[in-house]
Amino acid sequence: MLPELLVQYHLPEQDFRAGRGLRTNAWRAGLGKSESSPVEVLRNYPKQTGEDEGLVLAIHALSHWLWRHRIPLLPKLLSKFNRIVFAVELPAETRIGKGVRLNYSGLGTVLHARAVIGDRVEISPGVVVGGRSDIYDVPVIEDDVTLGVGAKVLGPVRVGRGAVVGANAVVLHDVPADAVVVGVPARVVRIGPKKEG
Ligand SMILES: CC(C)(COP(=O)(O)OP(=O)(O)OC[C@H]1O[C@@H](n2cnc3c(N)ncnc32)[C@H](O)[C@@H]1OP(=O)(O)O)[C@@H](O)C(=O)NCCC(=O)NCCS
Repeated sequence: MLPELLVQYHLPEQDFRAGRGLRTNAWRAGLGKSESSPVEVLRNYPKQTGEDEGLVLAIHALSHWLWRHRIPLLPKLLSKFNRIVFAVELPAETRIGKGVRLNYSGLGTVLHARAVIGDRVEISPGVVVGGRSDIYDVPVIEDDVTLGVGAKVLGPVRVGRGAVVGANAVVLHDVPADAVVVGVPARVVRIGPKKEG
């Protein structure tokens, strides 16, 4: 039973490279390749504004590193620690770029194991980046995206570089780069910076 579970849990690296659609494209585009190493995250730890945020990300970086090196069980235990102590679901498999911010140490945040989070993405509390029933692909969040409090990004969706997803928005379609989207389902209210006056 246990070995079976370990095999099931231990998604091979090829699963990412050979993944369908979005994830393959994300891999080709280099997204999710620049993840921080556990050492790097720990070095940046004192610079994080919230100490817990740094700890959550360091634990994730370590569990991801262990998972990539095919160490059984330990990655799962570390991500369970984050879940129990910080109420954040951050599976070891999830690819998280450099300089990602987890506001309020990721309280109530759920990221899918196959989701790809780019560099410098800001994630507010209660964000869900996950799947839709019967659809394999899960979201790809490009660099410099801001996900507002309670935002849900679901299914085969690509959120373009620099986009802002408003509080409580439910994103079901691709979001163009630099767009601001709000509402359920999310709609674009603006592309680019807000005009003064
Ligand atoms: C989406 C957001 C960035 C837009 O801010 P903005 O650029 O200043 O835009 P505005 O406030 O001018 O709003 C533009 C339109 O979108 C609407 N809108 C803004 N935010 C919205 C939201 N979250 N849900 C639904 N509609 C929203 C406004 O009512 C306005 O509609 P109108 O043009 O019909 O009047 C901002 O409202 C937001 O949700 N920020 C996230 C805040 C957050 O999560 N903070 C973290 C706390 S831990």
